[in-house]
Amino acid sequence: MEPTLPKTYYPAMNTPDTFRLNGVTQSLTDSDPRESLLRWLKRHRRTGTKEGCADGDCGACTVALIEADGVGGSRYVAVNSCLLPVGVLPGREVLTVEALAEGETLHPVQQALVDCAGSQCGYCTPGFVMSLFVGLHEGALDDHAIAGNLCRCTGYGPIRQAARQLANDAPGDARFAALRAQARPDLPAAEIARFFSPVDIGDALALKAEYRQSDWFAGGTDLGVDLSHGKPVAPVLIALDRISELQQLRIDDDRVWIGAAVSLSRLQSDLQGLFPAIDDMLPWFAGRQVRNRATVGGNLGSASPIGDLLPVLLALDAVIHLRSLDGAREIAAADYFLDYRKTARRADELIVGIAVPRRADLRSGSAKVAKRQTDDISIVAAAFALGFDDRQRVSHVRLAYGGVAAIPLRARKTEALLIGRLLDRETLAAAAAQLRMEFEPLSDHRAGSEYRRALSANLFLRFVAELQP
Ligand SMILES: Cc1cc2nc3c(=O)[nH]c(=O)nc-3n(C[C@H](O)[C@H](O)[C@H](O)COP(=O)(O)OP(=O)(O)OC[C@H]3O[C@@H](n4cnc5c(N)ncnc54)[C@H](O)[C@@H]3O)c2cc1C
Ligand code: FES
Ligand code: FES
Repeated sequence: MEPTLPKTYYPAMNTPDTFRLNGVTQSLTDSDPRESLLRWLKRHRRTGTKEGCADGDCGACTVALIEADGVGGSRYVAVNSCLLPVGVLPGREVLTVEALAEGETLHPVQQALVDCAGSQCGYCTPGFVMSLFVGLHEGALDDHAIAGNLCRCTGYGPIRQAARQLANDAPGDARFAALRAQARPDLPAAEIARFFSPVDIGDALALKAEYRQSDWFAGGTDLGVDLSHGKPVAPVLIALDRISELQQLRIDDDRVWIGAAVSLSRLQSDLQGLFPAIDDMLPWFAGRQVRNRATVGGNLGSASPIGDLLPVLLALDAVIHLRSLDGAREIAAADYFLDYRKTARRADELIVGIAVPRRADLRSGSAKVAKRQTDDISIVAAAFALGFDDRQRVSHVRLAYGGVAAIPLRARKTEALLIGRLLDRETLAAAAAQLRMEFEPLSDHRAGSEYRRALSANLFLRFVAELQP
């Protein structure tokens, strides 16, 4: 049956095809929806926001976006404008560095950077200003607030000092608090060209059936890089970030439900303390700007062998929930990855959410090793879950790895070796030896195969050592 396009795809009086930039309404009618906000700003002579990498890596292009906070209010989030196609903007409010000062009076964030000598050439400064601005408003001025910003000349000492000064002084900022309070980030958006923003799953699936060459667009932190680099991307994009059902995060007694479009920042804050394996991994997943947009559904959709959440989902026995016009089905994370970036998900299926069982009897943890501690791609990422019977023998074991094969994988042979055994010195030596042989990792510019094998074993040994009193 031919799907009929629901009315939400057509511009209507109450669905804006405009966005607000620094409080002023801007039309998007003549804009290519795939153009990054950074390019759009440059074309419109807004030169305060800088371009460093156009890759999401340096944070020079950071702007503040107002988004719904999921509990009826709104909040500021720092995002990389180089990865944000303007197609996601209708009805939304963006602040760039130009908005902050009032005439000759600097905003407290800018003043703190001046006071602490946190700027030299100044190229990275607008990005730091916007990250600190968001940190100030959201009460999060720790190092992670600026971990997605790189500075090549000042050195981080003065910038961190500025962040500490702001945290201590906690200056009020009524002007921008009022702007945030007035924003309506959850308004439905108009369609712009071939960039759709449906508001419910049924509409999204109908669109997918209508446009077979389309792709889902969640946070865009993978797709945005392709767009930024002019790489081929599907001609039609269906944005998922206004579908409230995909934003649900539910903590039940026996499981946690993570909507596919929940941002990783929200996962980090709202699930804190529930799954140590998630807590351990998220701070090292990209920088704050990327985590503010990136989603679990996108990590599973890209299915990169070095997707950092993927071993975590394997270790926690997560179940992936898919939906298409043909119906719904579930796949265990262990059965999801088939080959390099190939998964059991059909092209017409949408990941709607991930269910993670809650098991108080298990100890879990994870670790990531990269060349640089923050904001870098994994050499190896690993996640573990262990359960013990009342004689301290291993009764449940999951050892999952990324970066050691074409897909994220569990070390099944080592798991079999461990089951039913005490974790004594002899067993651990045997497990480590088996782990070194379990995979045949590639050598590449990040690390050699032998190093990855050694990491597979040593990360597990460290996890066990940290479990013991
Ligand atoms: C600077 C930078 C640093 C990064 N660092 C890391 C890192 O440390 N670790 C890491 O793992 N990754 C990293 N990434 C990659 C990226 O952030 C993650 O893969 C992220 O989870 C992608 O989510 P997204 O919502 O942005 O996906 P998108 O870019 O929106 O989509 C990615 C793919 O998934 C598909 N997709 C999205 N949602 C769904 C859905 N619900 N159902 C079906 N398919 C879907 C899309 O069609 C697309 O093919 C980094 C990226 C950048 C730019
Ligand atoms: S320009 Fe480097 S993160 Fe956008
Ligand atoms: S002040 Fe020059 S790059 Fe940061």
